[in-house]
Amino acid sequence: MNDLNHLAIIMDGNGRWAKKNKVPRTAGHYKGVEVLRNITIYANSLGIKCLTVYAFSTENWKRSIEEVSYIMSLPKIFFASYIKELMENNVRIMIIGDREKVPAETMKVIDQAIETTRNNTGLILNFAFNYGARDEIVRAARKYAEDYKAGLVDDLDEEKFASYLYTADLPEVDLLIRTGSEMRLSNFLLYQLAYSEFVVIDTLWPDFTSDILDECIAEYQSRKRNFGGRDETKSD
Ligand code: IPE
Ligand code: IPE
Ligand code: MG
Repeated sequence: MNDLNHLAIIMDGNGRWAKKNKVPRTAGHYKGVEVLRNITIYANSLGIKCLTVYAFSTENWKRSIEEVSYIMSLPKIFFASYIKELMENNVRIMIIGDREKVPAETMKVIDQAIETTRNNTGLILNFAFNYGARDEIVRAARKYAEDYKAGLVDDLDEEKFASYLYTADLPEVDLLIRTGSEMRLSNFLLYQLAYSEFVVIDTLWPDFTSDILDECIAEYQSRKRNFGGRDETKSD
């Protein structure tokens, strides 16, 4: 059976859900936040160590100012509603992405949650917020070059390069789930997903449930992970 330490989710389909239900896009994002709360508590109960969720990409600034502003207010709504419960469940909050462009008020709320939960030892709920994988890789390269010039490091290998990424302290991503049926990565974790299993489902994120997560995990468990090798004891 495949271990599942690190689950990553591209939470897509909030806008389509809103359209389907004839409500504003913002209502889709709000419902998405409630679903994230449920999935976090459930994933923690399953013993998953890390849940990385794509909440806002470096490309999502292209959306209307109204939509972007609303998304920037969601961390406040999420933590105000759920921080107590997250603490009770021993959940730790982390963030990956470019924090510079995020409004100071939003960052303050996120940093407070990170601080409050820093000693928790249960699931890590890791928000990819203003995250872009190309941006992450370029930053890592730049930082390595600086350290090299300063004489702090010598040669680079895969492991050392990974230590310059936002995900340095996190386990390998085992499973990526994308809701909302699009077959693309949209600039998410390009380096980290090299050997992850992918499950893309039609369900829109606001309709996602713990039962659907169970189905995705069952699919993952049934996969044969090769990592480029082959089982010499088998005849296939
Ligand atoms: C994902 O849902 C949430 C964010 C990108 C912030 P979308 O808003 O992309 O929903 P669709 O893809 O338009 O349905
Ligand atoms: C990916 O969804 C980003 C998040 C879920 C936060 P998008 O809706 O932004 O992706 P594209 O634009 O369809 O590729
Ligand atoms: Mg989308």
